[in-house]
Amino acid sequence: MELNTGLTKAQREGVIGLLKTLLADEYILYTKTRNFHWNVTGPLFSDLHKFFESQYDDVDGKIDEVAERIRALGGVAPGSLGEMLALATLQEVPGGSMKSQEMVGALLQDHEKLIVFLRGALDAAQTKHGDAGTGDFLTGLMEDHEKMAWMLRSMLE
Ligand SMILES: [Fe+2]
Repeated sequence: MELNTGLTKAQREGVIGLLKTLLADEYILYTKTRNFHWNVTGPLFSDLHKFFESQYDDVDGKIDEVAERIRALGGVAPGSLGEMLALATLQEVPGGSMKSQEMVGALLQDHEKLIVFLRGALDAAQTKHGDAGTGDFLTGLMEDHEKMAWMLRSMLE
């Protein structure tokens, strides 16, 4: 059934496109953070193992919110790992390929890339596509990623 919520099909498709890229990037970030939770080594193992878990739990919640917003706007949420990889802008890393400090730096870099993407996407959602709801949603996500990035940054010298 067609939506009748005051947004045109073109406006909805515009924001759905942004949300699909975001969903795929959150998926990559989730997988990378979980990879690091499993494979971290060194004297900070216990702290980092727990810290990475708290971050991937947080990102896991965001994945669900983004996918369900795509559905609420009448779109189809990408649902396979192949689709996520094709849509994502962030890069995966193999298990066991980084030392603990490199892991923290790699996650920080990804969060910062997402923050830059979100800053542009929230503006486009509001001004280009006329969707204040998605703009507000993306603003909240950006603030959450800013907080996660701060925690990662604080672990680096
Ligand atoms: Fe675990």
